[in-house]
Amino acid sequence: MNASPSRPPMSRRTFLKLLAAGGVTAAGAYVLSEYAPWLDYEGQVAQTWKLFGKETTVSAQKLELVRYATLAANGHNTQPWKFAVQENAIEIHPDTSRELKIVDPDHRELWISLGCALENLLVAARASGFAAEVTYPDSAEFIRVALTPDSPQSDPLFDAIPLRQNTRSEYDGQLIKTADFDQVQTLPLEPGVSTHFITGPGGLETVLEYVNQGNLSQYADPAFMDELIYWLRFNKKEAMSSMDGLFSKCSGNPEVPRWLGQMFVGSTKPQQQADIDAKKLRSSPAAVVIALESDDKTAWVRAGQVYERLALKTTSLNIKSAFLNQPIEVKDIRSQFQSALGLGASMPQLLVRLGYAQAMPKSLRRPVEQVLI
Ligand SMILES: Cc1cc2nc3c(=O)[nH]c(=O)nc-3n(C[C@H](O)[C@H](O)[C@H](O)COP(=O)(O)O)c2cc1C
Repeated sequence: MNASPSRPPMSRRTFLKLLAAGGVTAAGAYVLSEYAPWLDYEGQVAQTWKLFGKETTVSAQKLELVRYATLAANGHNTQPWKFAVQENAIEIHPDTSRELKIVDPDHRELWISLGCALENLLVAARASGFAAEVTYPDSAEFIRVALTPDSPQSDPLFDAIPLRQNTRSEYDGQLIKTADFDQVQTLPLEPGVSTHFITGPGGLETVLEYVNQGNLSQYADPAFMDELIYWLRFNKKEAMSSMDGLFSKCSGNPEVPRWLGQMFVGSTKPQQQADIDAKKLRSSPAAVVIALESDDKTAWVRAGQVYERLALKTTSLNIKSAFLNQPIEVKDIRSQFQSALGLGASMPQLLVRLGYAQAMPKSLRRPVEQVLI
């Protein structure tokens, strides 16, 4: 499999000519202002993660809500979502053309990703002057958020949306400040969702055993490796061409041509990957497992909401977080991991390590125009 082909760069002048040629509505002008093909990677990052715009029309405000929703965590940065913007609601639909067939055959992580986007949308809606009511996808294939005007409520989680990232580096090993950790541990949850915090070498070494097993299994599976390589973006040109996927620099790896990156990643021994992640987990003073009483679409969405809430909370406290989902993604290891953690009937959904570190380069998102239905 190959990554999506490069789009030829467009000059600023050509782009502006195109803009001028089109008669555009207020929402159309907003959408076009999102698309900035002349920018370099850092410019695209600034455009992707810019602060919530003080838009004057309600339709442009809703497009800002969509943009903030797309800043959420999502598996392999596939951005598996589409948004329908309506007069009094925004719907979040799965985009199954962006599914991860190998690592996520049941679309569990896809719906979790939609839950992450939902949480960003809700936080941003409340902070920017909307009351929001969610209809979960119990029988439907999408999430609906009804929006009505309300007074804006300030919220540190809203300020954290453009700062959050999945920080994949080694952390500095410092214990998390007790008062801050208390706040993270007592974060409000969603029905059916539980969080299990693990601290101290004993508990973390148990978690590590299963992360190791997950890595050994995944990195020995050619189909897993093909899918991973398909979503890797080995250099800025590739990352900016697709505006999705896993850009090597966001994981602390150098930029290389695709042929070299493919060769390098393809020849990574499972044990090498296990050793890298072991170092990362051992540098983290805490981990958390998010678990569910049931394994269905609505429950997965709620797990995504809780993860994103937790990530925004930790971001607001300058605590970094990163996923290590390997023991949950490999079916046979998942149930052993569940028993080892003493989760009873609850199924583990996400494993996240926490700690302190410098920020890493940020990932990109496709512009809003590309995710509208
Ligand atoms: C359901 C889900 C599963 C994920 N699994 C992993 C994982 O196992 N390892 C990892 O490094 N990142 C994982 N991620 C993080 C995404 O790769 C990350 O959110 C995406 O690349 C965008 O980067 P950002 O979160 O820094 O903006 C996962 C995210 C979600 C929502």
